[in-house]
Amino acid sequence: MTLSARAADRGEGPPLAVVTGGSSGIGAAIARRLARRGWQLVLVARGEERLAEVASEVGAEHEVCDVADRGEVERVAAAVRERHPAIRLLVNNAGIAGHGGGFLDLEPEQIEQLVRINYLGSVWCLRAFMPALEAGAPSDLVNIASVAGTIAAGHSGPYSASKHAQLAFSRSVGVEVAGSGITVHTVIPGLIDTPGFPNRSRFRSRALKRLVAEPELVAEQVARAVERKRLEQFVPHWYRPAAIVQAAAPGLLARAARASAVRRKRK
Ligand SMILES: NC(=O)c1ccc[n+]([C@@H]2O[C@H](COP(=O)([O-])OP(=O)(O)OC[C@H]3O[C@@H](n4cnc5c(N)ncnc54)[C@H](OP(=O)(O)O)[C@@H]3O)[C@@H](O)[C@H]2O)c1
Repeated sequence: MTLSARAADRGEGPPLAVVTGGSSGIGAAIARRLARRGWQLVLVARGEERLAEVASEVGAEHEVCDVADRGEVERVAAAVRERHPAIRLLVNNAGIAGHGGGFLDLEPEQIEQLVRINYLGSVWCLRAFMPALEAGAPSDLVNIASVAGTIAAGHSGPYSASKHAQLAFSRSVGVEVAGSGITVHTVIPGLIDTPGFPNRSRFRSRALKRLVAEPELVAEQVARAVERKRLEQFVPHWYRPAAIVQAAAPGLLARAARASAVRRKRK
């Protein structure tokens, strides 16, 4: 039974979910899926035009907010709480790409932005919405991390580091808030084709293009993780072995990646 059906069974109204980054890609797909399943939604992002468009499509409320700005997040969470004292689901999805840039390629401001949005954004949103999640308990938090948060070998170091931090936060906070009736889920996507991460256009070969999944697959897995109380989910699931190899033999992977980088440089 879906969460919204369970709420209806108890004579409650539709459950409320807050989705950050709900105006594009994975967040918009999550919003569409949750709306179809009877959730009431508040979508959050910086750019109002796209945000208002998706919100009106799915019948959601929207709040313009930069998740990297702690003060703004607290103000918006207080405004949402005035209207909805209890929320059942927070999806920390807002994030930016590192555009394949390594430590030596990106400006210091871009590296700071990656950490502020991809990692600290999830921290500030949970802090600010925690009272409403506690009021809505049993409730759920979904953090949209990344396979780049489980594997680090090669380029995209700053993005990968921001996602490693977010993943560690997600795994550890799940234990901390367990006593408050909040279940924390970590969803770990691989290559997904979205406006912010146009992954399919990166590849020429059809076989590689096929490895890139659609945002709807992530949305489906988010809904499933919440309904089936799955704590950690790779999307697609076949990325999991790669993360296991990195964890089991980090030295081996580092040596192989380093050797290939040196070979490329010599060519
Ligand atoms: N696509 C992939 O291959 C992939 C793989 C693994 C993980 N992910 C993760 O999935 C999440 C969503 O990415 P996506 O692929 O759907 O990208 P996207 O299409 O660019 O969507 C990103 C969303 O986040 C919002 N956002 C960005 N910075 C924000 C900020 N500071 N405050 C509030 N909202 C902000 C954007 O709206 P505004 O710009 O208007 O604020 C937009 O709604 C990210 O956390 C990303 O790291 C993506």
